Amino acid sequence: MMRLVFMALLLGAAGPVSIELPGEFVPFADIKGGPSAEAINANCLSCHSAEMVLNQPHLSRIEWQGEVTKMRNVYKAPVAAADDAEIVDWLVAMQAGRSDIKAP
Ligand code: HEC
Repeated sequence: MMRLVFMALLLGAAGPVSIELPGEFVPFADIKGGPSAEAINANCLSCHSAEMVLNQPHLSRIEWQGEVTKMRNVYKAPVAAADDAEIVDWLVAMQAGRSDIKAP
């Protein structure tokens, strides 16, 4: 009994432990009623942040496909060709839902 009380006091004194991570990891989000972010999350976060991808001018579908191809050919991103469509669909849908960037 004494021992339990002691442990409770000890835990109470320590309080909750929180760990601060340097920089917050923010994945790409699923778009409501739109394409899944699964492929872009699996393929596009190993070298740079999502922010780098999100902060682009308005690109067409063909231009986004060009970006994915560039990542693969120039930077050697191991993106399976089968994932291209889902990645590009997500990128186009993401920009379509934004009012802060203008369509060309
Ligand atoms: C193998 C590493 C790697 C992977 C994986 C990768 N990228 Fe990149 N990405 C880069 C590099 C390197 C840059 C240039 C960074 C810089 O200029 O600072 C870049 C830049 C970009 C840019 C900025 C425009 C440009 O052309 O420079 C976009 C948009 C982008 N990546 C999208 C993507 C998308 C979408 C994916 C997933 C299909 C992806 N990246 C996966 C390496 C990668």
